[in-house]
Amino acid sequence: MSLSISLVINGEPRTVQIDDPRVTLLDLLRERLDMTGTKKGCDRGQCGACTVLVDGRRINSCLSLAASLDGARVTTIEGLAEGDTLHAVQAAFIAHDGFQCGYCTPGQIMSAVGLIAEGHANGDPERIRELMSGNICRCGAYQGIVEAVLEAQKTLADQAGRDGRRNAA
Ligand code: FES
Ligand code: FES
Repeated sequence: MSLSISLVINGEPRTVQIDDPRVTLLDLLRERLDMTGTKKGCDRGQCGACTVLVDGRRINSCLSLAASLDGARVTTIEGLAEGDTLHAVQAAFIAHDGFQCGYCTPGQIMSAVGLIAEGHANGDPERIRELMSGNICRCGAYQGIVEAVLEAQKTLADQAGRDGRRNAA
């Protein structure tokens, strides 16, 4: 059975033909669309390496059937930077050494972007650790990851404040 789904991936409308209704969003991204930034770790919802945003919410793409996402907006690690300008979360991961081997990093970063957008971080390291506990780092780069999320949260809040003042002026 073949079915056609439409997605908006990193702002770009895509129509994809799916031959197997069991194909996951993760496999669709990596194997059909050549978007290999999203990583496959466990393929069973336990490591967070495959985290992407769907309609702004963090999900494990290895647990999500592509066929169920017709019409969804998907954001992956490839969609964060604007040209040569890194997203604030990406820049903060570099500044704070939030990675070693880097395999978990796209998932960590997407989770952090979602977490900050959810408004839950609030400058609280414990809360960040708790809300990112689904993202496992075998290298144990957690200290840098939390510091990066704290800094990115502040940077994005400052940016939003500046934008708000500019719009009000
Ligand atoms: S690959 Fe999806 S949670 Fe591990
Ligand atoms: S940086 Fe190696 S698994 Fe996280």
